Amino acid sequence: MLYKKRTHTCGELRALHIGQSITLTGWVDTRRDLGGVIFIDVRDRYGKTQVVFNPQNHEAIHALAKELRTEFVISVSGTVEKRPAGTENAKLLTGEIDVLADGLTILNKAETTPFPIEDKLDTNEDLRLKYRYLDLRRAPMQQNLLLRHKMYQITRRYFDEHNFIEVETPILMKSTPEGARDFLVPSRINPGKFYALPQSPQTYKQILMVAGYDRYFQIVKCFRDEDLRADRQLEFTQIDVEMSFVDEIDIQTIVEGLMQRFMKEIKGIDVITPFPRLTYKEAIEGYGSDKPDLRFDLKFSDFSAMVKDSGFKVFADNVKKGGVVAGFTVPGGASYTRNQMDNLVEFTKSLGVGGLAYIKLTEKGIETAIEKFLGAELCKNICDIAGAKTGDLVLIISDAWQKAYTTLGVLRLEMAKRLNLIDDNKWNLHWVVDFPMFDYSEEEKRHVAMHHPFTSPKPEDAHLLDTDATKARARAYDLVMNGNEIAGGSIRIYDSALQSKVFGLLGIGPEEAKMKFGFMLDAFRFGAPPHGGIAFGLDRMAMLFAGVKSIRDVIAFPKTASGISLMDENPSEVDKKQLDELHIKLK
Ligand code: AMO
Repeated sequence: MLYKKRTHTCGELRALHIGQSITLTGWVDTRRDLGGVIFIDVRDRYGKTQVVFNPQNHEAIHALAKELRTEFVISVSGTVEKRPAGTENAKLLTGEIDVLADGLTILNKAETTPFPIEDKLDTNEDLRLKYRYLDLRRAPMQQNLLLRHKMYQITRRYFDEHNFIEVETPILMKSTPEGARDFLVPSRINPGKFYALPQSPQTYKQILMVAGYDRYFQIVKCFRDEDLRADRQLEFTQIDVEMSFVDEIDIQTIVEGLMQRFMKEIKGIDVITPFPRLTYKEAIEGYGSDKPDLRFDLKFSDFSAMVKDSGFKVFADNVKKGGVVAGFTVPGGASYTRNQMDNLVEFTKSLGVGGLAYIKLTEKGIETAIEKFLGAELCKNICDIAGAKTGDLVLIISDAWQKAYTTLGVLRLEMAKRLNLIDDNKWNLHWVVDFPMFDYSEEEKRHVAMHHPFTSPKPEDAHLLDTDATKARARAYDLVMNGNEIAGGSIRIYDSALQSKVFGLLGIGPEEAKMKFGFMLDAFRFGAPPHGGIAFGLDRMAMLFAGVKSIRDVIAFPKTASGISLMDENPSEVDKKQLDELHIKLK
């Protein structure tokens, strides 16, 4: 079909264009027929412009405009005119003008859409995902994709300026050990053999260091077959970085520089570097999380030493067994009713601990059920240590170290939400460092790497690998933004003997190590430089910058929580012929 190409976008026209003959192309956003004159807003990804069809100006074009419905695709020509005084629209960038139409081509019609193309949409997400192309026409979604685009450009510019080179690594590869399940791809030409999709390019980027590419980065898709959450997808994007001849500070400094750019160019905020550092132990014991949200305080206090020799057996026995009694102050919490407190106790128990003790500090003094076990003075001391003032409430949990603190961590976040302590305009960035090397997996009944098996122990803890490996700390670091882990990395092992020892501790014997990582151990025999790196979760960061609650809102074509792409319906069944070629028989 012959039609007039656009001279301007739908977001471009201003008062300075008044009098010009122009053409716009786009979608009919809204249509109002005011008995005679028809007004439409025509929309493209740059904005909206009001077009006026007046029968007195052009009768045939006005007649054609009567056929227009929302989402029709059109080319419309006319003269830019100043809107009559009082009809300007300050909400639209083009709100000073409209276009008096003298030409119209309907390029395509559209059926009634399953939901309106509106900024504020109240429809279920599955419908939006099924008709994603309609959802993506909405301005908030376009802004999210533009935000990602901006993040890619900032990233590439920044790393290029700092002498990094972008190298693509394979999507079909050997399984990597990032701790999740692999996606496998059967090989047609190698019966019975499988490729794995990268959980990250970890092994390749380390090999690139051995190859001498001392500053590498890549914006890369990673694939992990794990249970989905609001901040997790099966395939997600990392900004992946690796550097040679560096220590923690070098990598963290590069990362801080990139974060400064993001914050400045995306949010218009100057952030101060270096970012504060918290050790893993400080993070857990202070805030009950390895990614604490430090936009608010509610810091914990440890009461273990005070209650160890008290008459309260539950507390005393737990501390003697190596557990902790700890808690925090809820400002103004003394006014909570009996009912509210019962609810809070139930909520806490649902997190898997035995109970929640509490002390109210009122005008009359302390009010608590544990006074009869601890005595008034000890209760008062607990309040003092917790920094409680009259009108406050102290929440206390007694359990094993990990359980007590992680439960308090959930409670801390819950109370911050209830008390409205989280300021959405605040941006908090900090590092968590000195993670333990190993974590115990109840599911697998063995030690697993807290970061990954190539992470180096801290030199001063290396001897612990032979005596008490669980106490050894790693040269690993996470970057936390507003309570979300947005990046994680480590200084790597570059010595074959140490690497073999760590594999051994992880239950990976020499045979298995050779089979899985033989290529890496081989490479390390030919001059591996000291190296380390980090990877950002780009989608997570975009989600925070966009101020949305789900990672799906910043991904063009995401999967649902059950791993399904509703638009193109995948995963899906395949032909028997395809399976035969892949040597696969379904059970
Ligand atoms: P890690 O496994 O910590 O490190 O991943 C780095 C960052 O990626 C993000 N992320 C995810 N985002 C969305 N969906 C997921 N399923 C998902 N999983 C992780 C997080 C996380 O901080 N190779 C190492 C990095 C290194 O050591 O250099 C790695 O992948 O924001």
